[in-house]
Amino acid sequence: MHGQVITTMEKRSSARAYSTEPLSQEELDIILKAGLMAPTGMNRQEIHFTVVKGDHPVLAELDEEKRRLRGQEKQPVPFYYNAPVLVVLSAEEDFKWSKVDAGIAVENMTLAAESLGLGTLIIGCIYDAMHGEKRAYFSEQLKIPDGYDFQIALAVGHKTDDKTPHAYDFDKQVTIL
Ligand SMILES: Cc1cc2nc3c(=O)[nH]c(=O)nc-3n(C[C@H](O)[C@H](O)[C@H](O)COP(=O)(O)O)c2cc1C
Repeated sequence: MHGQVITTMEKRSSARAYSTEPLSQEELDIILKAGLMAPTGMNRQEIHFTVVKGDHPVLAELDEEKRRLRGQEKQPVPFYYNAPVLVVLSAEEDFKWSKVDAGIAVENMTLAAESLGLGTLIIGCIYDAMHGEKRAYFSEQLKIPDGYDFQIALAVGHKTDDKTPHAYDFDKQVTIL
């Protein structure tokens, strides 16, 4: 009873090291379409996807602001682990299902990337930087539509690490009535 999607889920694990090899346009299109194919509450389709190349200066600014807010020293690698692409998901601020929908979309993209042999990292650590005093600046830089706010981001690239998938405790997390 193992379909392809299950096999892909079993293999997926967060990647925190990437080569400099860029994504092909085809790979990027497939991943973005996987996000667009995700279901949304009331079919609102309220998620916006901003594709940022890994060398875009806004990423260094975001990294610095994240560290400033957390009182962190400069790390050897930035928050997106030098992945060649970061996809930033924003959504309607006042829509009840924005967070859930962004989560579904980002996981669709993660599994699409895994199925292409690419690595991903879901990134939430810039949330406070994206919602803090520089919110207007970062929103402008990332072309986040009016009335939308940051939800989650996804780093994608050719991974150079190989973490084993996380363990879980079925009995602790599942109740069957
Ligand atoms: C909502 C969310 C936010 C996350 N934010 C970060 C992050 O900012 N930085 C990071 O290194 N990992 C982040 N992760 C990755 C988790 O740490 C990772 O999924 C978890 O440790 C389980 O490991 P696995 O993905 O390899 O199964 C995030 C994951 C999720 C689902």
